[in-house]
Amino acid sequence: MKLDEALDLVADVPDFPEPGVLFRDLTPVFGSASAFASVVDALGEVVGDGVDRLAAVEARGFVLAAAVGYARGLGVALVRKPGKLPAVAARVDYSLEYGTATLELPVGSVSPGERVAVVDDVLATGGTVAATATLLKEAGADVTGVSVVLELAALGGRAKLAGLPVSALRTV
Ligand code: PRP
Ligand code: HPA
Repeated sequence: MKLDEALDLVADVPDFPEPGVLFRDLTPVFGSASAFASVVDALGEVVGDGVDRLAAVEARGFVLAAAVGYARGLGVALVRKPGKLPAVAARVDYSLEYGTATLELPVGSVSPGERVAVVDDVLATGGTVAATATLLKEAGADVTGVSVVLELAALGGRAKLAGLPVSALRTV
């Protein structure tokens, strides 16, 4: 499937998870083998070269980063929502488009000096990726950039990322 066709499967859901939010639902992209393959191949290209590891945030980020990591021969640092990890290297609180959240980086998931690229499904306010970059830097990693399927430009996420290179397969 062509990338455009795959991205056209994203569904717009008004007023989710709360009134006034237009939620972009990638469920059909994950559910279609050919759309998923197309998106994973494209992310694998935009992640670029000179990367030692990927990093992703649960839940949808894990699905994408696992597939891209397999395709590119890269391991994935699994950034978790709170309370899941027996050994936390770093923790950060951040704000979302709808609410606040905390993320944790497992001990031993990145090495100092490693070049790490962040993969996620959606860049909205940028809070999640900015928090992930903070965690990775605290652990000594060199964050090379962020690759996402969809960038929601109106929410200004890019501006929160302090010049971190952003590759989006589609910007809406
Ligand atoms: C969504 C999405 C991104 C983040 C984008 O995750 O997968 O990680 O929000 O928003 P931001 O740019 O405003 O931070 P969510 O926390 O809803 O988790 P999920 O993957 O478990 O559904
Ligand atoms: N879709 C999916 N994830 C999101 C969105 C969205 O519109 N906004 C923030 N995270």
